[in-house]
Amino acid sequence: MSEKPKTTVSVIKADIGSLAGHHIVHPDTIAAATKILAEAKSKGLIIDFYVTNAGDDLQLIMTHRKGVDAPEIHELAWNAFKEAAKVAKELGLYAAGQDLLSDAFSGNVRGLGPGVAEMEFVERPAEPIVIFMADKTEPGAFNLPMFRIFADPFNTAGLIIDPRLHDGFKFEIFDVFEGRSVTLSAPEEMYDIIALIGTPARYIVRRIYRKKDNEIAAVVSVERLNLIAGRYVGKDDPVAIVRAQSGFPAVGEILEPFAFPHLVAGWMRGSHHGPLMPVPQRYAKCTRFDGPPRVVALGFQVKNGRLIGPADLFDDVAFDETRRTAQLIADYIRRHGPFMPHRLGPEEMEYTTLPQVLEKLKDRFIKVKGEPKAKAPKFRTELLESGHE
Ligand code: F6R
Ligand code: MG
Ligand code: MG
Repeated sequence: MSEKPKTTVSVIKADIGSLAGHHIVHPDTIAAATKILAEAKSKGLIIDFYVTNAGDDLQLIMTHRKGVDAPEIHELAWNAFKEAAKVAKELGLYAAGQDLLSDAFSGNVRGLGPGVAEMEFVERPAEPIVIFMADKTEPGAFNLPMFRIFADPFNTAGLIIDPRLHDGFKFEIFDVFEGRSVTLSAPEEMYDIIALIGTPARYIVRRIYRKKDNEIAAVVSVERLNLIAGRYVGKDDPVAIVRAQSGFPAVGEILEPFAFPHLVAGWMRGSHHGPLMPVPQRYAKCTRFDGPPRVVALGFQVKNGRLIGPADLFDDVAFDETRRTAQLIADYIRRHGPFMPHRLGPEEMEYTTLPQVLEKLKDRFIKVKGEPKAKAPKFRTELLESGHE
């Protein structure tokens, strides 16, 4: 019996310029990217594709047989972004080419600006997937929902009821500052998982595997543009792919954590905390104070590599109250203006333009006699120093 071929789903996104500030992708840039992917499909490089947007981020959803991190697929995405950026420049769109940090492609888009989530699997007879795309926030925004989907029985009934989920899941957690990862197992190491991913600016849930058979269950883009570029270049609006049903959490269990509009980092100038609002795609456009941060969920069935769909999953009145709560939280937290905890803490502000403003004050400080210098732990090194090497 011949083995069933593996299908790869690649979601690669970039902000290559948008309309009316950092607001929304222009349809002509979508058309430019679509043309490139359609050519690749006709040549057989990819099986299927869907080009879309979440706010100001252009999203390329592709299926193929080349596996994750395939140079030819990454090059294809890069070329699609380049063509779209060309159109963005012609139209004078805002921040045209923003996320394309390099002029030249070098085999993999990772580290060049775009965000990447990819997974490879043998399709089940029916293969439902959910693709999450967020705008005005960072990859760690998915930490809380991913934990709840795959480790919290109060969210996912299947963890208790379904024997296929009952053994739990493994979490690969990526440390964006050190470029290293650790794999921990839920439920046994649940507290250790939370101890790390409760710091979403640094520790990001990158992949989740079903413990029973090591099947890939979820993947999140972990690129942090500011860390790559060493300066503020927009927020690292993340994407994620989650497999659903028949031995994985149900679609409803996957969407459920988003009924709580938790606070995430991002929003205006990538420098503020705000509620993550789940929205249908037509509302994935950030206006108020460039936000509040949004997340869209598109559901597909994958059949022999074909993408059937999408279903716009947050287009449901059942999320109306969540959206209303998010508005109330937005009102409340906005009233803090430039004060923490609305504005991010100093360790995160290092990657914004605030240090340039503070620079001019550095010679104005005078040492106060007799006052000792406090030994404050440094955010990025504190865990290393306390033995987490
Ligand atoms: C947040 C974002 C926007 C911009 C803001 C200022 O991710 O993209 O909030 O940071 O509109 O943009 P510039 O500096 O381009 O004027
Ligand atoms: Mg933008
Ligand atoms: Mg964006």
